[in-house]
Amino acid sequence: LFSFRRNSYEMCKETADWLRAHTAQCPKTAIICGSGLGGLAEVLDNKTVFLYEDIPHFPQSTVAGHLGRLVFGELNGQPCVCMQGRFHYYEGYSVGMVTFPIRVLFLLGVEVLIVTNAAGGLNPSFQVGDIMFIRDHISMFGLGGQNPLRGPNDERFGVRFPCMSDAYEQDLLSLAMESVQELGFVSFTREGVYCQLAGPSYETIAECRVLQALGADAVGMSTIPEVIVARHCGLRILGISLITNKVMMSYNSQEKASHEEVLRISVVRAEALQKLVTCLLGKLGES
Ligand code: 6GU
Repeated sequence: LFSFRRNSYEMCKETADWLRAHTAQCPKTAIICGSGLGGLAEVLDNKTVFLYEDIPHFPQSTVAGHLGRLVFGELNGQPCVCMQGRFHYYEGYSVGMVTFPIRVLFLLGVEVLIVTNAAGGLNPSFQVGDIMFIRDHISMFGLGGQNPLRGPNDERFGVRFPCMSDAYEQDLLSLAMESVQELGFVSFTREGVYCQLAGPSYETIAECRVLQALGADAVGMSTIPEVIVARHCGLRILGISLITNKVMMSYNSQEKASHEEVLRISVVRAEALQKLVTCLLGKLGES
């Protein structure tokens, strides 16, 4: 079957209807937990948990650090739903499959999407452990033609040619920055351009130099297809990258990128990120 059937309105609706039949919770906010950041879902109150394998049409997580559960509950009194584990292109999924859950969330009535990921720092002023709000993105394989919206457009989701210059919403970013100030996180919070490669291999030194020259501040292997599909259907988006390592820019460096290092650092900052999202949700509830 053509891959674009994968996230057709009918298929997404079947999944959304199934979820609606199995939980009365109606979250307005969804959170995608990146590598090692799934702990956020654990701290929700009044949880209803679904394994991805039990949800009709849902793909499965195959990566260490990604559990594979959809968790409904409340954070700071606000109803929300967490994807504890996401899908990546490098796992072999099409960009259509990677973004399938976004359309399901939209059909469930979600309005705000908080996407998190672990990323390598390209900006020389970034430190390991920094939180970077995504101001804009560069999709290397999107530029090369792997756009999740390729194929017939269904107007029930959005327009044929959606705008992306405003994908990361300023009002959400302002609320997030307020939270950062209140929590005293200013010293390790940054803003920048996130660049996504297909992965799963990390970048060569020459590739890192190219990405830096292109204006990217952080590099990772996820998020942009989800953001494109979310923006298409009108979700408000906040993107957060946790800088888990600095990329190699020199042949003299002895360091090596590894998934173990990524998971180790995400554990260190997981609590700060949880506090940030919790505080932000409170503000969203007030606004
Ligand atoms: Cl250095 N590169 C990529 N592509 N993804 C990452 C990363 C680096 N660090 C965490 N995720």
